[in-house]
Amino acid sequence: MNNGFPKNFRKMPIQERRDHLKSAFHLTEKEMEAIDGKNSYLEVTDVMIESGIGLFPVPLGLATGFLIDQREYSVPMATEEPSVIAAASHGARIVAAGGGFHTWATDPVMTAQLYIEGVPAGEEEKIYLASVEIGNELDKSMPSMKARGGGYRGLEVTRLPVTGLVNVNIDIDVRDAMGANVVNTAAEKIRSMIEKISGGKILMSILTNTAPHRRAGASFRVPFRFLRYKDFLGSEISSKIELASHLALEAPSRAVTHNKGIMNGIVALTLATGNDTRAVESAAHHYASISGAYKALSRFEVKDGNLEGSLEIPLPLGTVGGAVTMHPGCQTSMKILGNPDAQILCRIAAALGLAQNLAALLALVSEGIQQGHMKLHASRIAYMVGARGKEIKVLVKKMWESGTLAAKAATKLLDDIRGKE
Ligand code: MEV
Repeated sequence: MNNGFPKNFRKMPIQERRDHLKSAFHLTEKEMEAIDGKNSYLEVTDVMIESGIGLFPVPLGLATGFLIDQREYSVPMATEEPSVIAAASHGARIVAAGGGFHTWATDPVMTAQLYIEGVPAGEEEKIYLASVEIGNELDKSMPSMKARGGGYRGLEVTRLPVTGLVNVNIDIDVRDAMGANVVNTAAEKIRSMIEKISGGKILMSILTNTAPHRRAGASFRVPFRFLRYKDFLGSEISSKIELASHLALEAPSRAVTHNKGIMNGIVALTLATGNDTRAVESAAHHYASISGAYKALSRFEVKDGNLEGSLEIPLPLGTVGGAVTMHPGCQTSMKILGNPDAQILCRIAAALGLAQNLAALLALVSEGIQQGHMKLHASRIAYMVGARGKEIKVLVKKMWESGTLAAKAATKLLDDIRGKE
């Protein structure tokens, strides 16, 4: 399965790849221009950030072959890391062969936190008792969110034992927004109300990046035969992936690298859709350590001739507002994804993270990951020593034949090529 994309999509010249993309997703000239890097977005830069001086393009690629909840997807990914997109597509195709990903997402609820000092002992209960009035006040302050089905969902009050601060957590359904602005604005709106009720003074109010109630997950089951790889049997690969998974649940230092592999995919999609990569990363790493020890976010098990994999992760991703709406390239990414709502985007991200993780583990427990990197690494060296256009392919072939990827040798080979022309 490759979602109607030619099997050799990865190997095509970039212009041909762009032509396929344009026709497959019915993209307009303007939507293509939005991801061509030549486009000058200086005006957008100036309103997106302060003190803007230009643009810093990151390569945008397309991972193909995803089957998620019985629907085919190609996933735009913005990344500087060479092998990430090929790996995601590889993982996706294996899972598609077994029937695809099953995914889920919670309601898009984000949490604002107010920390209050000087609340007399026992008075914090008054905040809890006023939760209906507080909710009404909050909903009044965000009528359009309420109209879209979002709004206040409840609050929790605790007193912190060391600082004595009272912590009020306020949950708000932010619908298709990432939600940081929505909840931060709402929390600031009710500061004086909370101070009046509690008799204390607000130290600060801000969302929590743990995104404790906004999660998504993906799972798959793939028969061993689809995991056969070179000389390795599918059953052998599957058992090794299961062991690698247990290792990443046991050893935090391995779990960090394991989770970095998951985030390779999720962060690339986060960036391509104009979402906040730091918010997504911090939520994920907090969740990985929620048991008290840092652990893998995913699990792999061998069961009845299949490899089963699953991932659960907090995902504060939006499809409206902020850079998502403003950045023309993000709009093109959204169109490629079929203009999903926020919950679907989170489900796609969870499947992508699991595909990325599966592909990394598969490579690690078989031939290692360096082998697969070498072809692309050779192209990079060729570029770095000055090859351009068709020269790159010719030089890579010569480097391959000569058995060395050293820059000095590549420079010499490039001189030979140019001498011959
Ligand atoms: C490299 O960017 C990601 C991996 O290290 C992930 C892993 O080790 O599982 C390959």
